[in-house]
Amino acid sequence: MKRPIIAGNWKMNKTNAETKEFIAQLRPLVKDAQCEVVCCVPFTNIVTARKAARGSNIQIGAQNVHWAESGAFTGEISAAMLKELKVKYVLTGHSERRQYFGETDQTVNLRTKAALKAGLKVIVCVGETLSQREESKTAEVLTTQTIEALKDITKQELKRVVIAYEPVWAIGTGKTATAQDANDTIKIIRRVIRKLYGRASGTSIRIQYGGSMNPKNASELMSMPLIDGGLIGGASLNAEDFAKVVNY
Ligand code: 13P
Repeated sequence: MKRPIIAGNWKMNKTNAETKEFIAQLRPLVKDAQCEVVCCVPFTNIVTARKAARGSNIQIGAQNVHWAESGAFTGEISAAMLKELKVKYVLTGHSERRQYFGETDQTVNLRTKAALKAGLKVIVCVGETLSQREESKTAEVLTTQTIEALKDITKQELKRVVIAYEPVWAIGTGKTATAQDANDTIKIIRRVIRKLYGRASGTSIRIQYGGSMNPKNASELMSMPLIDGGLIGGASLNAEDFAKVVNY
């Protein structure tokens, strides 16, 4: 049985003081969770979050990672730096990185490979924009994004990869893909993985849905056969709401 994974993506939110308070509040609310619980916090909050989560089932993740081991890359963070802070997961390819910071399929691949090489687990984000969906390009876009992100990643490494399907038009908009629609689209991604890595990998890889997931729609989305988790933005910033999603 696959273990579902619910991850919060805090984006650029919360100070260290707020982080400490939030994790303290969240701990008891999610202690009996059946799924993996992850909070992807800003780099500056990792140490505080880890300390606050010590001895609990809350894992700490980061939101980005650079591909070089070190060097002249102002403003970037390496995989070794994250490992040293005992970060477990890192996001790559979030649509906001693609949209606002020039992230391409190629840089998503470089970041993903570097993180895996360092021993991190990676949540690789893919998703189509509204115009791509309206032009019936969803399958094509997701296929390309998935193939490119996973280029040169071994079957062994793939075991540490989670894919987050986040339709861009559903992020922060309050519009959720219907559970059926999310499930059908995730099927396309599984088909790509199957072609690349074989049938078993296409079935066993965990794929999350993300985009306006909240306490109201979480259980329906999580009941779909091909959805193994959620990547939560807005609703992950409030401990009670996030706990409700985790305990879907
Ligand atoms: P919202 O849950 O705020 O729509 O954000 C989703 C997201 O981008 C998670 O990475």
